[in-house]
Amino acid sequence: MLKRFSISLEEELLARFDTYIENRGYSNRSEAIRDLIRKTQVSEEWEKDSEVVGVVTLVFNHHKSQLQEKITELQHNYHNLITSTTHVHMDHHNCLEVTIVKGKASTVQELAAQLMALRGVKDGNLTMSSTGGHLT
Ligand code: NI
Repeated sequence: MLKRFSISLEEELLARFDTYIENRGYSNRSEAIRDLIRKTQVSEEWEKDSEVVGVVTLVFNHHKSQLQEKITELQHNYHNLITSTTHVHMDHHNCLEVTIVKGKASTVQELAAQLMALRGVKDGNLTMSSTGGHLT
């Protein structure tokens, strides 16, 4: 069941919010607020260290000495966490590697941080999602 409530907001903040929802393609404010609330709940679950599914994205130069080996070694150290890995050769020099992980939020963050900290990794991102409940 949908419940209604009203929000008081400074004009300037509301204008910024409207720009934000327009840029993101939301059809109305309610939809945008629902998404923001859900996102907040997901980050709370990370803090509570519940089970999450995460995607680690790395962009790196494969000419960088030993880098691919170091990435593979780290992935093996966390093999229980890793669901799958996809490697894309972006161009002559650059590779994109996407690793899908499933496990405790803190462990997922630990692996992602180590991967992103490797020398030669040009860009690294971790996104985490949760069903809202515990994974079985
Ligand atoms: Ni490659």
